[in-house]
Amino acid sequence: MSGNALWQYGWRDEFALGDALVDSQHRAFFDEAAGLRSALAALEPKDQIVAYCATFMANLRVHFADEEKLMARLDYPDIRAHRLEHSRLLARTDEVVAEIHAATCLIDCLLGTHALMEALVEHVTDQDMRIKTFIVDHAA
Ligand SMILES: [Fe+2]
Ligand SMILES: [Fe+2]
Repeated sequence: MSGNALWQYGWRDEFALGDALVDSQHRAFFDEAAGLRSALAALEPKDQIVAYCATFMANLRVHFADEEKLMARLDYPDIRAHRLEHSRLLARTDEVVAEIHAATCLIDCLLGTHALMEALVEHVTDQDMRIKTFIVDHAA
């Protein structure tokens, strides 16, 4: 999946893995990502944007940890690569949040934020869906 509109994706029922916790986190992720993007695009006050970022980052960490626990419970074969991808995405998110913290002009952060959101949405719609395929294939 690619294209400029990727970051505009919202939750779709087909993204559900069948795990209530992880699914609710994915659903919230799309809302939080949209909230952060529109706050940035509307050039809301910086302290508000920074607060969005803090919540977004904290929820992303919790989600990745919970999803990794789910993969471990499932004996998901690609857990190692998936964990590495989570670490890479967290590092990128840290960088973008640091840029936002340091910015004097928030519009300069839009491009980096959009690129990050695209990478995160692509992760959900590609890598996370491989977990779903595994679950479906291994259903009794
Ligand atoms: Fe996920
Ligand atoms: Fe993931």
